[in-house]
Amino acid sequence: MSMASMDLTQNDSVRNGDCDSNFDFSKLPDKPRHLNMERQRSFDERSLVEASPRYISWAENGQRHMDLESVFSPSRRSSFNSPRAQYGYEPHPMFVEAWESLRKTMVYFRGQPVGTIAALDNSDEKQNYDQVFVRDFIPSALAFLMNGEPEIVKNFLLKTLRLQSWEKKIDRFQLGEGVMPASFKVLHDPVRNTETLMADFGESAIGRVAPVDSGFWWIILLRAYTKSTGDTLLAERPECQNGIRLILALCLSEGFDTFPTLLCADGCSMIDRRMGVYGYPIEIQALFFMALRCALILLKQDDQGKEIVDRIAKRLHALSFHMRSYFWLDLKQLNDIYRYKTEEYSHTAVNKFNVIPDSLPEWVFDFMPTNGGYFLGNVGPSNMDFRWFCLGNCIAILSSLATPEQSSAIMDLIESRWEELVGDMPVKVCYPAIESHDWRIITGCDPKNTRWSYHNGGSWPVLLWLLTAACIKVGRPQIARRAIEVAELRLAKDGWPEYYDGKSGRYVGKQARKHQTWSVAGYLVAKMMLEDPSHLGMISLEEDKQMKPMVKRSSSWTF
Ligand code: GLC
Repeated sequence: MSMASMDLTQNDSVRNGDCDSNFDFSKLPDKPRHLNMERQRSFDERSLVEASPRYISWAENGQRHMDLESVFSPSRRSSFNSPRAQYGYEPHPMFVEAWESLRKTMVYFRGQPVGTIAALDNSDEKQNYDQVFVRDFIPSALAFLMNGEPEIVKNFLLKTLRLQSWEKKIDRFQLGEGVMPASFKVLHDPVRNTETLMADFGESAIGRVAPVDSGFWWIILLRAYTKSTGDTLLAERPECQNGIRLILALCLSEGFDTFPTLLCADGCSMIDRRMGVYGYPIEIQALFFMALRCALILLKQDDQGKEIVDRIAKRLHALSFHMRSYFWLDLKQLNDIYRYKTEEYSHTAVNKFNVIPDSLPEWVFDFMPTNGGYFLGNVGPSNMDFRWFCLGNCIAILSSLATPEQSSAIMDLIESRWEELVGDMPVKVCYPAIESHDWRIITGCDPKNTRWSYHNGGSWPVLLWLLTAACIKVGRPQIARRAIEVAELRLAKDGWPEYYDGKSGRYVGKQARKHQTWSVAGYLVAKMMLEDPSHLGMISLEEDKQMKPMVKRSSSWTF
C-alpha cells in the first residue's frame, strides 16, 4: 500500500487573525505572554525556581558560560554563526555545532519551515529517516521555542492538523478520524514545479504499527507553544479545538475496558517494533495523562467542549489513582508483591491482577535500591513488566502523574543505578535487556533488537532532554549536569548517533543512523533548560491538588 499523498492547496496557509472570542483565559495556567516573544517568567515558573533551596544554590554556583537570554533572542538569531565574534566569549563548541546541524535539518513546504528531518544521514534510502516524524520533532520544536523562533512550530502544528483530516486506510480498513501521522515528507515535482505532502499513519511503517503517541505529542506541543509564546489564538482556532477533540475521542470512547489506562498494540510509540510493550505500556499511559491535562488547559468550555472536558476530568481522576496505586514499585511494594497470595476472588482481593510471585524476574531484587522507586513498564491481568522505561518515568514526573514523593524516588533510583541507566551514554531506553529465550519469544527474534541494542536496552541520547527536564522539576539539576557531561565526551565526536549499544552504552549502535536530529535537538534542549530553567514551564505541569495521591508513602521514600 502506498503512502497517502495529497496536494494541500485549500485553506492551507498559516493564518494569524481568526480567533474565537470565547476562549477562557482563566483556564490557562498563567497569564498569556506577550506576542513579541519576549519570554517572561510566569509565576509558577518563578516559584518553581525560587522555592527550591537546592536550585538556588545550584543557580548561584553554576557556571553560566553564556547568557542565552540575550544570545538566542529572536532578534539575534544570526549569532549562531559567530557567537564569539558577537559576544566575546566561547560557548561549548558542541552547542554551536548542534545549532548548525539542527538548522540543516529544517524541512520547507512552499517556502515555509514545517519541521525537521529525522536524520541527515540518508545512507540507506529504504529507511524512512528522510521524513519529519511527529515524535522526533518535539525536541527540535522545544529548541526553536526556547530560542524565540515559534514559526516553524506553528507551521508544523497546522500542517499535521491538516494531515489528520485525510482519509486513512490500511488495506480495506479505515483508521479513526483523530489519528495523527507518525511522519510526513515533502515531495518535490521538478517538472510541474509543485510540492505535495505525503504522510504515514502506520500504513507504510515497518510492522504497520500505529503511532498512538503522535496525537498526544501534538496536544502537548500545542500547549508548549501557547505557554511559550502567549499566542492563545492558535489553540483557540476551531480547527485546533476540533483536532484536540478528535484525538481524545479515540481514547475516551466507552468499550470493554476495566481499567482507565489505554490498551495498545505493540510498538505504538518511540519503541516502534515488537518489544513486549503491548497492553498498557507506561510510555503511552504517561503521555496520555499529560495530553489529557494539556487538553484541559487548551479546550474551550463551549457547548462542544464542555462534555469532553467533563470526561477528561473523570478519566484523569481514575487514571492517576490507577497509575499511582498499581504501577508504582519501590522496595516495600516489591516485597508485598513477593509475598502475594494468588487466586483471590472478589473486590476484597489484595493481589488484584493475580500476579504470580514466581513470575518476578530475579534482576529486580538487586536493581531495587533501598531508597527509590519507579513506574512499572506495564500492568495487566497476571502481568507486571518490571522493566524500567526512561520516557514514561520522565513524563510521569513532568506531567505530575508522579506525586512529589514518587518523583524524588525516581531520581533516587537514577542516582543509585547510575551505571546501569546512564553509564557511558545517557540514557537507557529501558532496563534491562531481554535475552536468549525471552528475546526469541518476546521480540520474535528481532535482529535489530538484540540484547543491549536499539530498543532492547540501548542508550538514546535524545532522552537527555527528558532526563534534564525531570531533574530540574524535582530540584536536582546536578544529576542532569552530570549526564550532560557524560554525553559531551562522545556525542559530537561520534557524529550524533541515534543510539548506543552495550550494557553501559559504550558502542555506537549497530545500525544507528549518524546525525540523528533528535540526538542533536535533545542535547540543545537539555543545555538550554539547564542554563535557563524557566524554560521548563513549557513542558511541565504543576501538581493538580485535586488529584491527591491515594497511596500512602512507603517507608523507603526520602525527601
Ligand atoms: C526509529 C525509532 C522511532 C523514531 C524513528 C525516526 O524507528 O524507533 O522512535 O521515531 O526511528 O527517528
